[in-house]
Amino acid sequence: MAAAATELICPSGALEERGVGVRFVIEHASGEKTKGFAVRFQGQVYAFRNACRHVPVELDLVDGHFFDPSREFLVCSMHGALYAPDTGLCVAGPCKGASLHALAVEERDGQVYVTG
Ligand code: FES
Repeated sequence: MAAAATELICPSGALEERGVGVRFVIEHASGEKTKGFAVRFQGQVYAFRNACRHVPVELDLVDGHFFDPSREFLVCSMHGALYAPDTGLCVAGPCKGASLHALAVEERDGQVYVTG
């Protein structure tokens, strides 16, 4: 898959600490598209492909709701896999030990960009 150009996904203010995430689609030079999402955790923005490692469905049943009730983990709405928000590592559930595919993300000048 060819790398995507840097794309603006949202203003920094759209990502509150452990709040609702921002969904986006990036288009690669090949025309292939990747669905992703970004969240803020411990002050940093992290982005991942929006595909569970158990079955490749989108994690959020309700758009943008990626955190579990404790706000410590990202949760898959299908079977409840829990992922570390900073590394994407699955720490509990049917795909324990696997990791979400991280996307390169950059926050500058009050904007969040992803490069895929
Ligand atoms: S599809 Fe995500 S835990 Fe099963």
